[in-house]
Formats: sequence, structure tokens, C-alpha cells
Amino acid sequence: MNNNWQHGFYRRSVADRQAIVSEQRRLSPAQQQLMKEHATPLGNQLVENYLTDYRLPEGVTVGLLVNGRHYTVPMVVEEPSVIAAASNGAQRVARSGGFDAVTAPRLMIGQVIIKDVTDFADLQQWVKTHHDTILATANAAHPSMQKRGGGAVGLRLRQEPPFVSLDLEIDVQEAMGANCVNTMAEAVADLVRQQGWHVTAAILSNLATESVQEVTAHVALADLGGHGFSGKEAASGIADLSALAQVDPYRAATHNKGIMNGIDAVMIAAGNDWRAIESGAHAYAARDGQYRGLSTWQIQDAELIGHLALPLPTGVVGGSIGLNPQTRLNYQISGIQTARQLAQVAASVGLAQNLAALRALATNGIQAGHMKLQYRSLALSVGATAQEAPLVARQLAKAKHADKALAKDILLKLRKD
Ligand code: HMG
Repeated sequence: MNNNWQHGFYRRSVADRQAIVSEQRRLSPAQQQLMKEHATPLGNQLVENYLTDYRLPEGVTVGLLVNGRHYTVPMVVEEPSVIAAASNGAQRVARSGGFDAVTAPRLMIGQVIIKDVTDFADLQQWVKTHHDTILATANAAHPSMQKRGGGAVGLRLRQEPPFVSLDLEIDVQEAMGANCVNTMAEAVADLVRQQGWHVTAAILSNLATESVQEVTAHVALADLGGHGFSGKEAASGIADLSALAQVDPYRAATHNKGIMNGIDAVMIAAGNDWRAIESGAHAYAARDGQYRGLSTWQIQDAELIGHLALPLPTGVVGGSIGLNPQTRLNYQISGIQTARQLAQVAASVGLAQNLAALRALATNGIQAGHMKLQYRSLALSVGATAQEAPLVARQLAKAKHADKALAKDILLKLRKD
């Protein structure tokens, strides 16, 4: 295939790009129409080589009680049963008094990575004596952050031979702050280079250990029963699964996926960089050398007590947040105004999600509840219309083994009848 069209593709208009891709990939008229209909001027401002907007569904978790305040939380996710599970867990915890979320510190880390330091003590001494100059250099590179009450506030040196990392601690106020941190780190890198050291790179770290959000939930054992299980039996199964996630990385990865089901969906709806949150969460889960569950659940007297801690360097300003009217709408729906509040709410949704998933696993299994909500997707995947899907889903729910072939059969029979 002649690839000349690829050169300078980014300089073309959206209409030209759509026409080229349509021709190259032989898109049908209906596919071309879909691409055009979903294109927006904002999308073209946000990403490169823009073609169209790719849509994801948004729903809300209702009944989330955090630090005495009720939240309705927008969540953007394509997977059925995630929002149901978050609401299920949220309402259960609310009945026992709600989530307690600490007011966490909020500092980002910028790394200036130095290589081949022959005399570490010499570097240490320079950093010690020039502590204030280094911070002033960082702050001068992005002065607006200090004017808002934030800025570079601390320094530390870490040895990772053959590298040394000069870590800057930066208060980014209400933003996620990636650009600010990178600008400051690059300015300090120049200063370090001027002293004769070799700087490999300057970049923020997504392992935001100075922005760890903790949240706790208490649930009455009596409120965990159902599906033929007593509350005590369900709680005991949840505690066992929690213990397993602390020692078995295979189970821990799935345990954490359940937590991130909730947190990612909240982050996307809040216009935050969820890749940054994901990478930080998993690095934090492996901080002592073994990958572990981010949450724990323990029975104490007549209660099940859950605890979750993970880095949540959230932001409520900057990036696409102010540009995207849908993101602004979501803040209006949730009533969230500060980055700390967003971290507290996101962590609570993550723990609610985790509780619902573990309770399902510890009682009637994940498939019962999850599949009930998947049947509709299954029906749509075999071509059912919006009117037909609930009818097909109802019949799938009655079957012993629901799959695509059965969904197709049911749909064909329905259309025949
Ligand atoms: P249930 O106990 O059968 O629900 O749970 P219910 O009908 O008794 O309703 C109780 C409450 O759940 C409702 O309160 C709602 O809050 C909520 P009400 O409104 O009646 O006062 N709820 C719903 N909310 C919205 N839409 C719905 C809905 N249904 C109930 N359709 C449920 C049913 C699916 C919630 C439950 O089985 C569950 O939480 N399952 C877990 C689902 C899940 O985690 N899905 C994610 C995909 S699986 C995964 O990726 C993660 C995992 O692998 C993680 C891990 O292994 O740890 C599981």
C-alpha cells in the first residue's frame, strides 16, 4: 500500500482526514456518516490526527455518603454492572454511617534524574547548601503556582545506582499539575547541569506517594446477608478474599481491577488523567516488592471494616476540565469543588465497588448479578434493536447457559413470531 498519505496527515483538515481514512480503509457510507456525525470542534482541539469523537456511556452512582455528605457521582464506563455495583456498595455503607475519608496531603513529585554521580556526598552537600536556590529556581519557572499558595516546597535525594533522583515536592493546589511539575523539574535540571552533573531526564512521577488518599467503611454484618447467605457468612468470605489479595498477586490484580472499575469511571467523568491514576495505583500496590490488594476487609465484633489507600493526585482545574462542557456538567451534578473532595469521593466509590464485587464473589458468585446486566449487551451484540433487546435479555436470563448463539436463536425466533 502506498503510505504517502501518512506524511503530514496531522496538517490536514478533519474533513480531509476522514475522506482519506474512508478511502484507505474502504469504509461504508454508513460508517463514514457515523464518523462525521460524531466529530466535534472540541475533539479536534484536544487530540492530534483527529477523526471523530468516540463515545462512552455515563451513569451516576447514587447514595454515596462521604464524611457526612451525600453525593451523586457521574461515572463513565462501558462495562455493565459497574455502576450497579458501586451503587449497591455505596448504599450498604451509607446505611452504616457512610465512608470516612481523611484529609490527605497533596504534593506531586518531579524527578530530576542524574546519572554517573561519582561523589554522592558532594551532590548531597550541594543540594543541602542550595536547597532554597533550587526551590526558588523551580518556583520561578512556574510563578503562578506560588501566587495561588502552592509551588515547590521540598526536596529529597534518592539513590538508584547508577542513577540519583533529585525529587521535588510540589504543591499543585487544585490541578493535577503535570505541566507545572514538568516545567519546574526541567528548570532544576538546567541548574543541575550547570554544576557539571549529567542529567538523564526531568519528569514528574506518577507514583504520587505524597498524595495518598485513605478511606474507611464500616458495614453492619447483618446488612451483608442475602442470596441464601447470612451476613456473617458473607462477611467471612469477604475477609478471606481480602486476606488472599494480600498474598496472591493473581488474585490481587483482579481485586484491584474491581476497585479501579469505580475509580477510573469517576476519573474519566471528572476529566482527569486516569492513566496517571492507574499507573500510580498499581505501583503503590507493589511498593514493598510484592503486588497486593489496595484494600483490606476485616471483621470486628458485629461489623465488617474496609480500608483503602492509594495515590489519588486528582485535579478540578486544568487540562480539558474547563474546555469540555460535559465535564463541567459532571461537576455540577456531583457538587465536587475541590481536588481533595474529588479524591475522597473517588476512593469511596472504589471501596464501594470493591465491597459489592467481593460480596457477590463470597455469596452467589459474580455471574448471577453481572450476567443479569450483561444480557442486554449480549442481545445488542447479535443485532437486537433497542425495543428487542429487553425481550431477548429476559429470555437469556431464564436460560441455563447464555451465549451469543443462544441470543441469536432467541432473536430470530422473536422476529419470526
Ligand atoms: P443485588 O444484591 O442482587 O441487588 O446486586 P438488589 O437487586 O438487591 O439491589 C440492591 C441495590 O443494588 C439497589 O438498591 C441498587 O443500589 C443496586 P435499590 O435501588 O433497590 O434500593 N443495584 C442497581 N443499581 C443500578 N442498576 C441496577 C442495580 N441492581 C442493583 N441494575 C449487583 C446486584 C449486580 C449490584 C451485585 O450482584 C454486584 O454488585 N455484583 C458485582 C458486579 C461487579 O463488580 N461488576 C463489575 C464487573 S466484574 C469485575 O470486573 C470485577 C471483579 O472481578 C472484581 C473482583 O474479582 O474482586 C468482580
